[in-house]
Order: sequence, then structure tokens, then C-alpha cells
Amino acid sequence: MKYWTVFALSALLLSTGSAQQKKAGDEALGTRMYDQFDKPAFCGTSCHIDFYRQWQQSMMAQAYTHHWDEIEYFKLAVPHAEKDPKVAGVKAGCNGCHTPMAFLAGDVPPPRPEANSRANESVSCDVCHTITGFSGDTPYNFNYYSEPGRTKFGRREGAVSPSHETRKSDFITTAEFCGTCHNEKSPYDVWVKSTHLEWKAGPYAREGVRCQDCHMTKGEGRLAALTPVVEDAWQHLFHGAHDPGKVRGTIEVRIHPDVREIEPGERVKLTVALFNQKTGHKFPSGSAEERLVWLHVEATDAKGRAYHLPVDKKGFAGEEFTIAANTLAYQDMGIPLNLPDFQGIQRDGIPEGDRIFRLPYLDPQGRMTIMQWNTASQATDYRIGPRETKLETFTWTVPATCAPGPLTVKATMYYQKLPAPVAEFLGVPMEEAERIEVNMHSTQLNILP
Ligand code: HEC
Ligand code: HEC
Ligand code: HEC
Ligand code: HEC
Repeated sequence: MKYWTVFALSALLLSTGSAQQKKAGDEALGTRMYDQFDKPAFCGTSCHIDFYRQWQQSMMAQAYTHHWDEIEYFKLAVPHAEKDPKVAGVKAGCNGCHTPMAFLAGDVPPPRPEANSRANESVSCDVCHTITGFSGDTPYNFNYYSEPGRTKFGRREGAVSPSHETRKSDFITTAEFCGTCHNEKSPYDVWVKSTHLEWKAGPYAREGVRCQDCHMTKGEGRLAALTPVVEDAWQHLFHGAHDPGKVRGTIEVRIHPDVREIEPGERVKLTVALFNQKTGHKFPSGSAEERLVWLHVEATDAKGRAYHLPVDKKGFAGEEFTIAANTLAYQDMGIPLNLPDFQGIQRDGIPEGDRIFRLPYLDPQGRMTIMQWNTASQATDYRIGPRETKLETFTWTVPATCAPGPLTVKATMYYQKLPAPVAEFLGVPMEEAERIEVNMHSTQLNILP
């Protein structure tokens, strides 16, 4: 055999070999072992001390162990997957993003967090730093390629480490890298998480501002204990919905009336302008099925009496989901919970008539669901896009009981990760349903006698 044929053949074998190795998404289930990944404590105890401490505080480190994640996975997703063949894949699939090592090791379902197994490492250092790319054109549903081993991929050329090889990877610096877990499609082919797609369609992508620029902000620091200080040490903060400080101020709120002086019985129209100055995607994003962002407007007269102003209807399709109401929802939780006649629980748990900025997820029967994997369709997308301004009006007839003198009208925007009725019903610690004030503004009118 000629030399070049041997060479070509072995090159062919090598490339088919690695093609077999490289599996992404559902196909990667069970193709790796826990032992192939280094533990975060190994990376962080003596070398990457700062990054380790930051990561430990982030949701990435708790993606499998966090109480709400445990409840949703073990109480709802796993039993649902065992009953309904259409969603059977989520029993393994949730962990493709929440604890990739367990998924890649084929550990389905992994031991509960209390067992303290390696599944608890969640989205660990070595999970991210051995991702080399993704399959297809769109990053979603954990379609990353995981190639664990001695080589760790980073953003820098020529980084030297005593404990592993390093290789520069442009992929880790892209938004697509994040998108492999931050975009999700349900078994019904509906986008139930689209943070990366929202970003891509918005102004920040055009300007080259990536996820990393807002969630891993760079500052002066050391990449490892013994390396020199650099100016661009990318902080492993990953702060988002669980950091009230990150959420606060996301939207600027301004309110103004169409008249300043008014008598009881007359009508005033107040307009609220809401400007999204802070997020690179929509607000809310990510787990939109369970986020509540709402606008509450209240007037207080000279005697301290308070009046709640309901928002004016705009008349778009699906608007009923965007105005807080006492309706029942989330009936599909009855399937995994073995409650065949379950009537549902209160949808919103906030003052009726307030405007909600949300993307309602609907189950196959058209009822609102927080089980994002059971989403067959969505009603209107009424969230606030990056740098978008939404205007809401409140037309109000001043009641006869209103005291003469100054009347203050206050507009407040609130944020809640999980509707309180859902938290109560499922026994999720109430801190998940903590109400955060995003922003507020007030204006004054004069009530004439
Ligand atoms: C969610 C994925 C993710 C996790 C988890 C993660 N990293 Fe990173 N890491 C990144 C990204 C992305 C960058 C590069 C940031 C950029 O280019 O904007 C980075 C950069 C780094 C760098 C700097 C590389 C350089 O040359 O500037 C080091 C060192 C590092 N990470 C170590 C760690 C350690 C240690 C842990 C665990 C404690 C960890 N990372 C967890 C995604 C991750
Ligand atoms: C291997 C999958 C994976 C990759 C890759 C990944 N993430 Fe995540 N990320 C998750 C999961 C899962 C959570 C949810 C943790 C939880 O709340 O259970 C999360 C949470 C977050 C949060 C916290 C949101 C909150 O609720 O507070 C931020 C911010 C975030 N990721 C940003 C990023 C950025 C930026 C990148 C890219 C540099 C990235 N992620 C890459 C899986 C991933
Ligand atoms: C211009 C800055 C900016 C960019 C770019 C950006 N984000 Fe965010 N992100 C924010 C802010 C501010 C918040 C907090 C408000 C909120 O929860 O939406 C946030 C929230 C989040 C959350 C929590 C969302 C929720 O409501 O639960 C996730 C997850 C997240 N970002 C991931 C990403 C990913 C992935 C990318 C890139 C595709 C990205 N972000 C790009 C600023 C940014
Ligand atoms: C494609 C990746 C992916 C898959 C698959 C996935 N998740 Fe997530 N999950 C995420 C990311 C990313 C976040 C964080 C989004 C945010 O903060 O808004 C998240 C957040 C969550 C949260 C926390 C919400 C909160 O309030 O912070 C729970 C609970 C959860 N997922 C459960 C599940 C369950 C159960 C499944 C399977 C049915 C699942 N996830 C499948 C990526 C995924």
C-alpha cells in the first residue's frame, strides 16, 4: 500500500471515529461517564479560587439541587414523563441542561439531591469548559458537543496550567454557547425558552454585546491563584432572575396625566411609559412560563384614601392573559399529581385589573400551564423587548368620595419569579414567590372642590 493511501485511510478512520464520539442533544445520553469530568472543588480549591466562589453562589451551581428545581423535576416532570408518552423524553432531557454530567452518564433519573451524588455538581466548571461546539444551525435543547478530558477550552491562546492542557476556543465566547441551554423547545415543537433567540433578534446582538458582557462582566483579577493580574478576568457571576439587584431598574417607569386640575365625576387619562433599558433579551425571559411582571397603579387623595386603577384594555388577541384576574389555571398539574378532577388554582395571585407583561404557555387543552414541557401553544407575547417602550393607559373617573386637594398617582412595576398560588400549592419555599419592586414613578393632580 502506498504511503499516502495509508495516511488517507487512517485520516478517514480518525474522522469517522470522532464523528461517532461527537453526539449532541438526546443522542448524547449515556455516552460519557462521571469520572471523565473534574470536580468543581478540584478546579477551585487552590487555583481558580475567585471564579469558584462566584460560581458557587450562582444558580448554575444549584441547577439540580435548588428546592424548586427538585420539586418540579421529581414531583411533576418525572411522573408526567412516565404517564404520557408524548413527554417521556423529559425524564432524561431536563438534565441535559440542569445536570449535564448525569445526562451524559445516562443516570436517569439521578439520585435525589439529598443523596449528595455527583449529579449535584449541576452546571459545573468542567461541563462548560469541555463544550466544543453544537450540532445544527440553532443552539437549543442541550445540542452542545461535550468532549471531556485533559484539555480545557477557554478564551485565551497559550494559557499554561500545571494540572491540565488548555486550548483556545472561540465558541465559548459566543452567545450560541449559552444558547445551547438557554433556548428550549417542548415536545410539541414550541419554543418554551428563547433567551438567545430574543437576544439575536434584538439590538445588542447587532452591536456585538454578548450574554457574557452582561452576566460575566469583565474586571481586573487573576484567572488562577498564581497567574498575573489581567484586566479582563470574566467574572463568573451568572446573576439573573435570582438577584434582585439585577432585576431592579430593568424597566424605567414614567407616568403623566392628560389634565392637572379635575373635579370629582370627571375623567382623567393617565399614561405610563415603560422603557426596557437593561436586558439584552425580553423581560421577562428564560422561564417565562412562571415569571410575573406587572404594573400596579394607585391613586391616593389628600385624606390618604387609596384607589386602585385598572389598566385600559387594548383589544388584542390573548389580552385576557395579560390582565390580572381571579381565573383558575394550571389544571394539567393534576396529571403528574394523580388528581384527575383537579380544578386548578388561582392563575396570578396579584391585584385584579393590573397589566401583566408575560408570554402565556398553553397545554394541549388550551389552559395555562407552568409545566413548560407540556406546552402545545402560546397565547400573545406581551413582554417588553430590549430597548422597547410600551405605553399603558389608565382612564379613571374621579369618584365623588375623592377629597379635594392634591391627588398622588403612583405607578409601580413588580417582578415575581413564581406566582404565589403555585408556590403555596406545590410547597415551594415562599422566597421563590418574593415580590421585587422593579421601579416606580408618581405624578400629582389637583382635585378641585
Ligand atoms: C456556564 C458555563 C461556565 C461555567 C459553569 C464556568 N465557566 Fe469559566 N468561563 C465561561 C466562559 C463563557 C468564559 C469566557 C468568557 C468570555 O469570553 O466572555 C469563561 C472563562 C473562564 C476562565 C478564563 C479564561 C481566560 O483565559 O480568560 C477560567 C480560568 C475559567 N472560566 C474557569 C472556570 C472555573 C474554575 C469554573 C468553575 C468554578 C468555571 N470556569 C465555570 C463559562 C463557564
Ligand atoms: C450546560 C447548560 C448551560 C449553559 C451552557 C449555560 N447555562 Fe446558564 N443556566 C443553565 C441552567 C440549567 C440554569 C438554571 C438554574 C436554575 O435556576 O435551576 C441557568 C441559569 C443561568 C442564569 C441565572 C438565571 C437566574 O434565574 O438567576 C444566568 C444569568 C445564566 N444562566 C447565564 C448564562 C450565560 C451568560 C451562559 C453562557 C456564557 C450560560 N448561562 C450558559 C444552564 C446553562
Ligand atoms: C445588555 C445586557 C444583557 C445581555 C446582553 C443579556 N442579558 Fe440576560 N439579563 C440582563 C438583565 C438586566 C437581567 C435581569 C432582568 C431579567 O430577569 O430579565 C437578565 C436576566 C437574564 C436571565 C433570567 C431571566 C428570567 O426572567 O428568568 C437569564 C436566564 C439571562 N439573562 C440569560 C442571558 C443570556 C443567555 C444572554 C445571551 C443570549 C443574555 N442573558 C444577554 C441583561 C442582559
Ligand atoms: C434546554 C435546556 C433546559 C431544559 C431541557 C430544561 N431546562 Fe429548566 N431551565 C433552563 C434554564 C436555562 C433555566 C433558567 C432560566 C431563567 O432563569 O429564566 C431553567 C430554569 C428552570 C427552573 C427554575 C425556574 C426559576 O424559577 O428559576 C426549573 C424549576 C426548571 N428549569 C425545571 C426544569 C425541568 C423540570 C425540566 C424538564 C422538564 C427542565 N427544566 C428542562 C434550561 C433547561
